[in-house]
Amino acid sequence: MNLEQLNAVAIKMVTPGKGLLAADESTGTIGKRFDSINTDNNETNRRDWREMLFRTDKAMQDHVSGVILFEETLYQSAKDGTSFVDLIKSHGSIPGIKVDMGAKPLAGRPGETITEGLDGLRDRLKKYYAQGARFAKWRAVIEISHPGYADGVTPSAGAIKANTHALARYAALCQEANIVPIVEPEILMGGFHGIQTCQDVTEHVLKALYIELWEQGVELEGTILKPNMIVPGKRCMVQASVEEVAERTLHVLTNCVPSAVPGIAFLSGGQDNIDATAHLDMMNKIGGFPWKLTYSYGRALQQSALFAWKGDTANYDAAQAAFYKRAHMNGLASKGEWDA
Ligand code: 13P
Repeated sequence: MNLEQLNAVAIKMVTPGKGLLAADESTGTIGKRFDSINTDNNETNRRDWREMLFRTDKAMQDHVSGVILFEETLYQSAKDGTSFVDLIKSHGSIPGIKVDMGAKPLAGRPGETITEGLDGLRDRLKKYYAQGARFAKWRAVIEISHPGYADGVTPSAGAIKANTHALARYAALCQEANIVPIVEPEILMGGFHGIQTCQDVTEHVLKALYIELWEQGVELEGTILKPNMIVPGKRCMVQASVEEVAERTLHVLTNCVPSAVPGIAFLSGGQDNIDATAHLDMMNKIGGFPWKLTYSYGRALQQSALFAWKGDTANYDAAQAAFYKRAHMNGLASKGEWDA
């Protein structure tokens, strides 16, 4: 492991003004996104969509420090034959790869999942490094089943332990391969639970995660955390102000994330586009924390562009303008300089 190299890549991933573009939707998930615009989920459309994003030069150069790719895209080329890896690198952006194999039912814990993909990962990472990937992502999924967080409801201690352990095993393998692991324990924001429940569960998960990372010998200087923000469930009657989300999220992070971690890049998790920008911006306006705080958004960076594109090359310019707008706004938010 070359910790100096890992640390340098991690620091570059969270350059102020920039963040990560999560374009690593699995073939199934991109199909759901394409369904919303009545577009066929075939390899050509997936390539055209992602080529449109990666050719939005100003967004990529100024606001995208790295792109998380699905395996298909890591080996794919643009229409003119330029590999996507070269296209991304030409903008000064870093190619990354989602390496988990998805969340599967966790035996013994009905309704809960465990993210799979550790078997054979060492060999896959070597191939991904050779192909140009310098960071990776693994997403653990934690669901809150009940408004109150108490015994007998999810997430169970067993699911938290299994998922954080898998994240740590993955992270150690990445570092061995000189690939920066993004560790992503996502507490889903669907459901009726209130903001305090999200806070309690997130705190439990992050505390467990940093113990596991330590036990597996992961060097925090060469990692990036990708957490959810502290928000109420989408179906909770009581929603929260931008200030409350920012303050609670910072409270949890400062209590759980060691200062050796270079950066925290949030997922958007189904938040409204503007909310995702406003929350990040408010945290950076408050300031006073040891890590860089930025974005690793999928939907919050892509959704408006997707609706502008509609699967039609005639809408290329409108889609690029929409993508640039969200990238620019989130770039400002990563410095606390966004203005509603
Ligand atoms: P969202 O920002 O759409 O949640 O996607 C980020 C991501 O990579 C989830 O794993």
